[in-house]
Amino acid sequence: MDILIIGSGGREHALAIGFSESESVNNIHVAPGNVGTSKIAQNHDVDILQIQEIHSLACELGVDLVVIGPEGPLVEGVADNLIASGIPCFGPTLRWANLEGSKKFAKEIMEELGIPTANYEELSQISENYDILNKFDPPWVIKRDVLASGKGVTVTHSKKIAVSAIDNAIESDGRVLVEEYLEGEEASILVIMDESDYICLPPSQDHKRLKDSDEGPNTGGMGAYAPAPVVTSSILRRVEEEIVQPIHSFLKNQTNPYRGCLYVGIMIDNEGAPRVVEFNVRFGDPETQVTVPLISSDIGELFFSAATGNLSNANVNFHDFSSATVVLASKNYPSKPVIGDKISGNDVFIEEGEIRAFIHYAGTKINDQGNYVSSGGRVLSATGIAPTLNEAVEAAYQIINNIELKDSQHRSDIGFRAFERRI
Ligand code: AMP
Ligand code: GLY
Repeated sequence: MDILIIGSGGREHALAIGFSESESVNNIHVAPGNVGTSKIAQNHDVDILQIQEIHSLACELGVDLVVIGPEGPLVEGVADNLIASGIPCFGPTLRWANLEGSKKFAKEIMEELGIPTANYEELSQISENYDILNKFDPPWVIKRDVLASGKGVTVTHSKKIAVSAIDNAIESDGRVLVEEYLEGEEASILVIMDESDYICLPPSQDHKRLKDSDEGPNTGGMGAYAPAPVVTSSILRRVEEEIVQPIHSFLKNQTNPYRGCLYVGIMIDNEGAPRVVEFNVRFGDPETQVTVPLISSDIGELFFSAATGNLSNANVNFHDFSSATVVLASKNYPSKPVIGDKISGNDVFIEEGEIRAFIHYAGTKINDQGNYVSSGGRVLSATGIAPTLNEAVEAAYQIINNIELKDSQHRSDIGFRAFERRI
């Protein structure tokens, strides 16, 4: 089959690599794609928030499947439009895209289904004195109820910062959620689902803070690894029973059932109880870079099955390997990334026995002089895949440490929670 992937990040590069290794996939198209995807697929320059542009491209190319990477097009209703034209689409319709687009909508559904998550209250009136802050113990968690690329959450011990986050959110969005702070360790469970079945991919752990030891501001994600040992098999069973099965039973009985990936972000407390921090309606970035390489069966068949309601017939297997990815970000990411700087040392990969490492490109482009330059906040990530996590992390850092980009930022402790666990 021929596939069109929508998006331009490291996630889409990882998906394109996965499809390029799939026996059931013939041609891969990516819109708009990036430097990485241009090497293994055909890029198409379209505005991915324009439903008609995606529709026309899919029809013109005659693709058999469209895979939507980011949340933006899903919240615009791109899946609804493709499905109405009979084009199989991996990614949910607008109604279910709201599980990510509106934290309040997600909370209401979780409440209805009894899915464990943080308590919350909604505010829509600016006031001098937010009594609500006295109802929750600090640190306070203030969440905007809009898409904010993982940057719409303020977690703070300062009442002043909490109040200003509330004021700003109400001013710009008309409302805001104040949420109970959840203690514990986070993990990401990517669940492929349709009305016939669901499949939990190997659990991963993102590193959302900019700096080592989980310090600094929240970002889109500075690195990830999989499988994450914090999600033991008994915790994974609880995640399935208490979260995945209730939401899957609910979604599979809807007129437009959910077909795509549901990203379940969880917090695991010290008794091993999982609670939902967030739902996303897509693959995670950078979690995809460490999860897709662990799928040993044909991913073209897997995605097509889910997009056509036949997931229960798909054959899915995983490699018994570990993977890690280290993100290289531009200067001043995430607030005001500086772009346009030259990148060098990136033409490398590692293949030593069972150890592999290579680059997933994101905000990188080739300029008119033929040089690699940064063009976004998260520029690229180096991904290692190996029999052990130690080897995977080492291989990823071997590549990252070879790359030069002026004042770039990367974390030097990817995987630290897994390593601490073993001490
Ligand atoms: P979200 O966009 O909802 O994923 O939030 C971004 C990040 O903020 C999460 O990955 C957590 O690290 C943190 N966070 C969000 N909600 C909570 C919460 N209720 N308790 C503790 N941390 C949270
Ligand atoms: N890495 C977090 C996300 O994709 O939302």
